[in-house]
Amino acid sequence: MTETGRIEPNGQQEAVLRAAAALARQEHEHEGSGHDWWHIYRVTELAKRIAAEEGADPFICELTALLHDLADEKLVDDPAAGLRRTSAWMKEHGVSAEDNAHVMDIIGTLSFKGGSGHPMSTLEGRVVQDADRLDAIGAIGIARTFVYSGKKGRPMYDPEIPVRQEMTPEEYRSGNDTAINHFHEKLLKLKDLLNTDSGRRIADSRHAFMKEFLERFEREWNGSDGM
Ligand code: ADP
Ligand code: NI
Repeated sequence: MTETGRIEPNGQQEAVLRAAAALARQEHEHEGSGHDWWHIYRVTELAKRIAAEEGADPFICELTALLHDLADEKLVDDPAAGLRRTSAWMKEHGVSAEDNAHVMDIIGTLSFKGGSGHPMSTLEGRVVQDADRLDAIGAIGIARTFVYSGKKGRPMYDPEIPVRQEMTPEEYRSGNDTAINHFHEKLLKLKDLLNTDSGRRIADSRHAFMKEFLERFEREWNGSDGM
């Protein structure tokens, strides 16, 4: 505990966190679909902040945020092998079996269910999931979505492509999609899926900014702005 009552990672934990950041930086270096190192950096910063506000274990939250996308299906061919490597890495770096299992439980739920299936079973899981979801909304969320669509060669918008209400995981990854539709298919729904009060507070203004962006986009699309 510090004078402010906050629990800080100890020296050995600090060393693990530094090594995890170096690993994440190296592994995510050339990732161009929105899971680059700076996504990991932003999620980690948010996870630390939300953990402090919610009284969650700061070491588990920071370590999980740093490692959370190493086994992502977009980054590695075999997510199960990616998960095994992540766990082995923690063991090698002296993370306790209990903490290792906790981090793996969170990452497994995050990466395999797309975060939308099973609820997170611990406060630390809820914190990291909120941090990851917050990085998909707001100004950053808008930017990431257009980068992703551009990389996939999809249009930013096409009024003739309908918003999909229901879709399989395959359709979610591959279908006939536009950047603007992705806001309606996923991003505008994230605010109501957040777990913590701190996460919801941050989401409120990010959500409002996305809605304002979409309204302006539509007005400019129709040439009806500034009237
Ligand atoms: P998760 O963080 O759950 O792994 P994804 O990997 O599906 O989410 O997406 C990461 C980011 O990539 C999203 O926040 C979004 O900005 C962008 N993205 C994903 N799918 C699409 C899509 N179909 N159209 C536009 N952007 C997308
Ligand atoms: Ni992520």
